[in-house]
Amino acid sequence: MRVMFNGFILLLVCSLACCVSDTIPPTPAPVTERILLDQQWRFFKYADASQADALIYDVRPPLLDDEDGKAADAEPDAKIVLSARPDQQILKPWTLPGANPFIADPTARHQRPAGPSPGRSFPFVQSSFDDSQWQQVRLPHDWAINGPFLTGDDAAVGGGMGRLPSPGVAWYRRQLEFSAADADRQLYLEVEGAMSYAMVWLNGQLVGGWPYGYASWRLDLTPYVRFDGPNQLAIRLDNPPASSRWYPGGGLYRPVWLVKTPKLSFSQWGQTITATPQQVRNGRADSNIQLQTRLSNQSASPQQAELRVHIYALEQGQPGSEVLAHLPLTKTQVPAGGEVTLSSAVLLKQAKLWGPRPSQQPHLYLAVSEIWQNNQIVDLQQQRFGIRDLQFDPTDGLKVNGEKIYLQGANQHHDLGALGAAFHPAAARRQLLLLREMGVNTIRLAHNPPAPALLDLTDELGFLVINEIFDAWQRKKTPLDFHLIFDDWSEADLRALIRRDRHHPSVIAWSVGNEVGEQYTGEAGAVVARRLHKIAKSEDPSRPTAAAFNYAKPDMPISAVMDLVSLNYQGEGIRNAPAYQHLAGIRTSPQYPAFRRAFPHKLLLSSENAAAVSSRGEYLFPLAAGNSAPVADGAGGDPHSQQVSSYEIYTAPFGSSADKVLASLAAHPEVAGGFVWSGWDYLGEPTPYYGARSSYFGAIDLAGFKKDRFYLYQAAWRPDLPMVHILPHWNWPDRLGQITPVHVFTSGDAAELFINGNSQGLKQKKPGEYRLRWDQVRYEPGRLKVVAYKNDQVWAEQQNATTGAPCRLALQTEQPEPAALLFVTIRVEDCAGQLVPTAKLPFQIDLAGATDAELLATDNGDPTDFTPFSASARNTFNGLGLAIIRPAAGSAVTHITVSSPGLIPAQLTWPASPAKEQHLD
Ligand code: GAL
Repeated sequence: MRVMFNGFILLLVCSLACCVSDTIPPTPAPVTERILLDQQWRFFKYADASQADALIYDVRPPLLDDEDGKAADAEPDAKIVLSARPDQQILKPWTLPGANPFIADPTARHQRPAGPSPGRSFPFVQSSFDDSQWQQVRLPHDWAINGPFLTGDDAAVGGGMGRLPSPGVAWYRRQLEFSAADADRQLYLEVEGAMSYAMVWLNGQLVGGWPYGYASWRLDLTPYVRFDGPNQLAIRLDNPPASSRWYPGGGLYRPVWLVKTPKLSFSQWGQTITATPQQVRNGRADSNIQLQTRLSNQSASPQQAELRVHIYALEQGQPGSEVLAHLPLTKTQVPAGGEVTLSSAVLLKQAKLWGPRPSQQPHLYLAVSEIWQNNQIVDLQQQRFGIRDLQFDPTDGLKVNGEKIYLQGANQHHDLGALGAAFHPAAARRQLLLLREMGVNTIRLAHNPPAPALLDLTDELGFLVINEIFDAWQRKKTPLDFHLIFDDWSEADLRALIRRDRHHPSVIAWSVGNEVGEQYTGEAGAVVARRLHKIAKSEDPSRPTAAAFNYAKPDMPISAVMDLVSLNYQGEGIRNAPAYQHLAGIRTSPQYPAFRRAFPHKLLLSSENAAAVSSRGEYLFPLAAGNSAPVADGAGGDPHSQQVSSYEIYTAPFGSSADKVLASLAAHPEVAGGFVWSGWDYLGEPTPYYGARSSYFGAIDLAGFKKDRFYLYQAAWRPDLPMVHILPHWNWPDRLGQITPVHVFTSGDAAELFINGNSQGLKQKKPGEYRLRWDQVRYEPGRLKVVAYKNDQVWAEQQNATTGAPCRLALQTEQPEPAALLFVTIRVEDCAGQLVPTAKLPFQIDLAGATDAELLATDNGDPTDFTPFSASARNTFNGLGLAIIRPAAGSAVTHITVSSPGLIPAQLTWPASPAKEQHLD
């Protein structure tokens, strides 16, 4: 339970527990304690992984066929079978036992090898080793995000993985403190994510590890702990090259915890809460709450235990003062070294339901569970949950609490732009809020388990989520990806993910794979799919399974396996529009009808669509005919600047423009909705220019600035929001008299365009159209103005004017109030305060005032910018720049000054004057 992250909350809940158990004295026994290990780490990465120590997880195939920029929809290859070299120390046998709690078949579990563990004499695992020369780091830490970027054709890491040095072998060390009182406790290391192939030593002993870099896992440190002095923790990570189709990051990039539990305690992720609302009315329903709670006894003797559970409503994340329900007390005896699951249930009258915004409210509850022994609380756990009814109706789509919710979805990668893989909830919140502004109500987590705190955010903000685990099964997409460990780890990874995340009301489905190679292997592939489906259902019968298919057709065995039909691109058709006819690769006619006919009882969704590409604020001429075209040099793409036109009709070779996708979805109301590829730009996969660092796919750029496409979706997905958006900008001194098409996105139904007051005509949106276009406009400087209408009434207006020269900087922040991170937008303006939309000018950030405020990163959303994200100086891209600042602790004031040669600088004082915008003129 995530709110239990510090002593304050823990005490609060203890006092709640005491209130509700007024006849019994408060307990002196120490309950589970979670200590965040974010400071005091030392870090070392080998300059050259080939010179690293030999403490490897397993042998890996040689890298013979790494191809950066392979088409995303290329057929995955078969695995290479290897045998180990005798000179290597293979640590896999010591790592595999960590999977045992997540392997259902007892005979398939692993035995730790007997005898001394490997690596015990290696210097880095010794407490006597002097690591004072190692870098001091604070978690979350992504070792690669500050670069330098690796440029050029022969770079060790190409565009696919973001040209950042994520591969390599590295170590983290820190000491842990234990007191004599801890001798009676079970002591765990919990890691929410370590990229990747983690192996952990404590006091020179190999404890275990976990290879999948996106998994959350824990290790039992107890047998290796010393109570007579400092304990030395050492973690080795090994991030293979060519292991991902996108930027994976590297390091301890999510929180790491030391967890101390009593011997009799709650099992890891051991509580399932199933809530069944009946007869929903006005967002409330009588709801039957069923709990299954697993207790673990790590002591040497059987233990009697009583379980008491109390339910609170959460308001603004805080439990209310009143207990809403006490579950009936349950008792058991937990055998020594064993576990027992207790079931209990209660009816919650007129419970407030969790539902997606904007039409519903995401109400949450808290189950506070206590283990009692001899009239004392011996352990305590909090579990947040929500109550909602999900119906996956094959013809009517998804219904949440009886209301049809059309999936207005976005695919999101894990990285947080300039912060990389390092998980900062404030940055994830910003991503979600901008998506919500665009009209998104559902997120697909492409294609790996998220940071746990991301799902806390989707719960709180009311997003629906498809939680996806793998991009590859046994067949490989990149030479050293997950396929290497699929056979050994897929069951454990899948069970662990579902146990970790099943209490999140935002999660609506488990996707077990994305465009896997097993689509191409007939019945053999279906066998793998069935195994994963069965595992998911055995862990969580309440949610449907999915696997996203871009190739499998309705008559292939794999297509029938999952609960949902989850189509990537083939719903609207792949390479099927006229502009795509010359291309090789998968070519598919629109598949929604065929899948509908084959699977009339399954809900159908478009898990990936579009794959449109653009660079914010770049416009290239001439514009292709039609409304969807594959990008190519000179056709939407500029090979010199490596930028892609923002007219928003260009796509990856297998993609379709937003216009084509939305029209196709509108023509197939039987489809429950779709997920655009992608909501935000992300690091890596810079189709079509693999010389760049980050993708062009987002409707929002890497820095969080809206591309034109943002407004196309907003117009379609938020029909009640009066809005209209014009493109392009109107600064074209070299295009006097030349044809410069003007396109408009509006939630209205018609619009009239004016240039310097002269009407260019009123245009009406026809069914299946998502933009209004004036393609014969000849450029003249001045003022473009559009007036949008809905039902013959003025609905919205917007202007794009030719601006003056850059004159000054201006700063804006989205966080007027104290926040964990401050995102500051830097604007280049003319002297009249208009954004200069073409400005690519240097800026420099200086922080003063609070001494501990820290500039974490800068960016501008330009996919080709190789200035390190940690730099305090870079160029704006088309008028905008971004600074991400970790403000000083407490209420100390931070002064942010941004300057640029020849321009009037700007200053922002935060949080003392939360004014939106300040200039120094
Ligand atoms: C899909 C794939 C995504 C991404 C996208 C755009 O085929 O599932 O992960 O690669 O194409 O290239």
